[in-house]
Amino acid sequence: MRMYDILEHKAAGRCLTEAEIAWFMDGLCAGSIPDYQTSALLMAIFLNGMSEDELACWTDAMARSGDTVDLSAIAGVKVDKHSTGGIGDKTTVILGPILAACGGKLAKMSGRGLGFSGGTIDKLESLPGFRTGLDEAEFVRLANTVGVAVTGQTARVALADKKLYALRDVTATVNSIPLIASSIMSKKLASGSDKILLDVKVGTGAFMRTAEDGRALARAMVDIGRRNGKETVAVLTNMNRPLGRAVGNLLEMQEAYETLRGRGPADLTELCLWLSAKMLAMAGLGTPEDCRARAEAAVENGAAAEKFRQWIAAQGGDLRALEAPADFYPEPLCRVVRAEAGGFLAVRSAEDIGKASVALGAGRQTKEDAIDYTAGLVLAASPGEPVAAGQPLCRLYAADEARLDEGEALLREALAVEPEAPPAEPLILDVVEAP
Ligand code: URA
Repeated sequence: MRMYDILEHKAAGRCLTEAEIAWFMDGLCAGSIPDYQTSALLMAIFLNGMSEDELACWTDAMARSGDTVDLSAIAGVKVDKHSTGGIGDKTTVILGPILAACGGKLAKMSGRGLGFSGGTIDKLESLPGFRTGLDEAEFVRLANTVGVAVTGQTARVALADKKLYALRDVTATVNSIPLIASSIMSKKLASGSDKILLDVKVGTGAFMRTAEDGRALARAMVDIGRRNGKETVAVLTNMNRPLGRAVGNLLEMQEAYETLRGRGPADLTELCLWLSAKMLAMAGLGTPEDCRARAEAAVENGAAAEKFRQWIAAQGGDLRALEAPADFYPEPLCRVVRAEAGGFLAVRSAEDIGKASVALGAGRQTKEDAIDYTAGLVLAASPGEPVAAGQPLCRLYAADEARLDEGEALLREALAVEPEAPPAEPLILDVVEAP
């Protein structure tokens, strides 16, 4: 087989055969296909798309290109959850303890921040001592005993995705539904769970800007799951505003703990209860109504917060950093951004809120950057709420004035105070399941 012929087929709009896909993935991982030919193939897929059969086969080959995780030693039905990435999304940290308190389990590999969106592993590592490089034996032991285990993605899971993603990033081929769907689902298929719940973010702070695109991505991923024998459900959720009010690693961990104690923002609380109930029901632990009631009860009666403390301690994290960050980190500077006029708080661009938090130090501008765990921002009002002139809109935290200036400039672009209340938008836009 020759790469030239595969490129000619795909450029002409033909579907790649199973043999062509297998040959390409082998060559990609062995390093025998030059980057310029892989890039050309990515561009041909970007322009011509993929059929459903072709995409399922391509994703399966990606999933098998590296290590696959065996979760069979963990009792019960394992349901994985994945968010396509947004601003202020700390749901994994909240879901794990709720599920565990209700008799479920979360055994999950998570990632680091990417661009303007944060990552669960960075958030967890803001607790001094928290270990995110668990070996398989400890991962399984914690899932079976505590009910929650979260570890970083190993470099060898879905190896082909690492190579393809690095090239997509520099060839303007990131934003393609088949390429995003296969990238996400290859990692999920390799991660060993029995079922998958996908949270597809839609809006100004997400890859998918419209519900139509979000639905197309959701359908593609649900179909890949079905064709590869894994029940997959996707929920489309609103990312026209940050989830909750805190954006930044330690700030989000504090908000997560507050939410587990029943004192979280309404949108974050609702989404976490919805996702927990869905995951418990997918795991066969009750009817949707019963699972929802149990998730609510676990938050109200303190069982979920107790599980959170157990889990953080089991992975070595120091919870005292949530109550007394100054005992662990240099105290950040704080700047309050106030409303210049009265009206209603509106978010013009959730992406710019994410960019503001990166500028403050909460994310990486280059791969080598260190994260400032105490940096970030906390909205002082929820979008849609009335605000008076001079009232705080947001508190910014950073190590120096220059970062605060940059963060404030971005934040002022991102927020607006409108004379009329913006129309309320639903949090949950749609649910996509296999037919
Ligand atoms: N997340 C991924 O893992 N891959 C993509 O292509 C986009 C988001």
